[in-house]
Amino acid sequence: MTSETLPLTEYAVSARGLTKSYGHDSTRVEALRTVDVAFARSRFTAIMGPSGSGKSTLMHCLAGLDTADAGEIIIGGRDLMTLNDDELTMMRREQIGFVFQSFNLVPTINAKDNILLPLSLAGKSHDREWFNTVIDALGLRDRLSHKPHELSGGQQQRVAVARALLTRPEVVFGDEPTGNLDSRTGAEVLSLMRTSTREMGQTIIMVTHDPAAASYADTVLLMKDGSIVGQLENPTVATVTEALASLAE
Ligand SMILES: Nc1ncnc2c1ncn2[C@@H]1O[C@H](COP(=O)(O)OP(=O)(O)OP(=O)(O)O)[C@@H](O)[C@H]1O
Ligand SMILES: [Mg+2]
Repeated sequence: MTSETLPLTEYAVSARGLTKSYGHDSTRVEALRTVDVAFARSRFTAIMGPSGSGKSTLMHCLAGLDTADAGEIIIGGRDLMTLNDDELTMMRREQIGFVFQSFNLVPTINAKDNILLPLSLAGKSHDREWFNTVIDALGLRDRLSHKPHELSGGQQQRVAVARALLTRPEVVFGDEPTGNLDSRTGAEVLSLMRTSTREMGQTIIMVTHDPAAASYADTVLLMKDGSIVGQLENPTVATVTEALASLAE
């Protein structure tokens, strides 16, 4: 993942020298301390660490939702830190997908229109074949005409995942995407996310507190005090739990 041997083009997202602090003087918090990180294409990575270790700050900076103080962030060959507001909006719309803990669906329109929304906003038509592939993979075909309130939590989150995958973004970011789901539904959404890396070549980066959720990832990055302090390959619930416990020591 962070292997030095991969050519740069094998990374969907990479960042170098990322720093971010909040507050001043006595209230100053260094949320990111010169973070270097690279996420290989078509991989599912979970970011874990104690509360306050900088996970959300890292993800929000990588996704262009927050601005780092310094450093570079390369997505699709372009440095996010050098883009103006319009370019950044375009980049977020076309190259980045999001799945949040609260599903963030538009309540007044049906599932199909929610899934198509990013493309409609960009004034683009969708690739029907890809749309069919995504909704069948996510088991949403018979739910497309339902509005969000007519769907279960798991179905709503699957709609959010479909919306994120439909634009074939360079990367999908998830912040606790299964945090509001029961464990069975969460497992379903996670295995679909994993399938999208295996079968659709999607790159996924997810922040989670849950070792069970992290065990669906190919790699776990461990954060502490604003730095990346470790990495696990092919994580299991046991290895993740053990690594988190040793971080807390
Ligand atoms: N808007 C803000 N203003 C001031 N400090 C902030 C702000 N956002 C985050 N911080 C601080 O930056 C540090 C990193 O926060 P961050 O939200 O990235 O942590 P996290 O790892 O996502 O934690 P959690 O697991 O609790 O979500 C924390 O010390 C936090 O208090
Ligand atoms: Mg957080």
